Amino acid sequence: MTKLLLRALAGETLPTPPIWMMRQAGRYLPEYRATRAEAGDFLSLCYNSDLAAEVTLQPIRRFGFDAAILFADILLLPQALGADLWFVTGEGPRLSTITSKADFAKLAGKDDIHDHLAPIYETVRILSRELPEETALIGFAGAPWTVATYMIAGQGTKDQGPAHALKAENRDLFVTLIDLLTEATIEYLSKQVEAGAETVKIFDSWAGSLAGRDFDDFALEPAKRIITELKARHPGLPVIAFPREAGERYVGFAKATGADCVALDNSVSADWAAEHVQVDGCVQGNMAPGHMVTGGQALVDEAQAITRAFRGGPHIFNLGHGITPDADPDNVAKMIEAVRSA
Ligand code: CP3
Repeated sequence: MTKLLLRALAGETLPTPPIWMMRQAGRYLPEYRATRAEAGDFLSLCYNSDLAAEVTLQPIRRFGFDAAILFADILLLPQALGADLWFVTGEGPRLSTITSKADFAKLAGKDDIHDHLAPIYETVRILSRELPEETALIGFAGAPWTVATYMIAGQGTKDQGPAHALKAENRDLFVTLIDLLTEATIEYLSKQVEAGAETVKIFDSWAGSLAGRDFDDFALEPAKRIITELKARHPGLPVIAFPREAGERYVGFAKATGADCVALDNSVSADWAAEHVQVDGCVQGNMAPGHMVTGGQALVDEAQAITRAFRGGPHIFNLGHGITPDADPDNVAKMIEAVRSA
């Protein structure tokens, strides 16, 4: 196994960590903006396998990252289940809402998603042919809780209020939705692996708004179910879990779910995470994305401090969240240079 990312996921401590960035194919790159314009809009780009593969490859060509992440979105799965989905420029995603049994009854079953998602599997197949041999291919899906927050509210929310309200007021319906999403996510990720994804990442962007028992029931348990079933179907498949803003609940998350790597947001310090999270295996993260905008010596110092903090165990260098559209591509090159010379 020569790919650095897969070696880190297998638990190897490497002299230089593999590097990639969340949202590395994105609006901060002029070549991405050009291809997106050619596709028409964001969703058309996601469903155009050739162009989606092209934007996935762009940051690999420009920066030589150690991994490529499939270009798609976590909200394509609800769309495959029958939710309406559209993006409002400058605001973000909108979906038809699920707030009653009648809304839920209109959704498709877990096995009825593949015709809709066929272009995504095709993107994965193209990428597994075209990526350089040293570059690992990451598939992904949203975690059930995070996807449910968008399906229930019909849009992104600051505090996930509508999802918390449904959980409190109609727990049966809420649990039924989480179960459907858990099962459909297994089928979706399994197909990505069959198409050539070498690892998969589960994005639970809103895990931090779940506390106590809710965190166990709706962040930890669904991740455990997904990971257990994927590993039963695809022995040896490494999985990355990202329970964003989990704070102290990052501790033990890998052991409890079977994840091979826990991705960290930048609200936890690298020194703390090295002591309390990396003891259980590989960690990914966790530089603040703002450095990609502001650059300078602070960027170099922070990239090197994180690299050194995690040097004693398996580590994948990444940001703590996605790179933003106002980032400067020159700062990305600077970050890579800083990590590799730390
Ligand atoms: O990391 C990658 O580049 C892989 C592809 C990817 C995208 N979205 C592409 C995208 C991944 C893994 C995601 C995950 C995703 N999508 C999450 C979880 C991670 C996170 O960011 O918290 C969430 C919550 C979504 C839903 C979503 N998609 C939102 C809220 C938005 C609008 C915000 C924005 O940045 O405009 C999107 C759009 C989106 N997804 C873009 C990209 C590159 C921007 C689209 C564009 O205008 O070109």
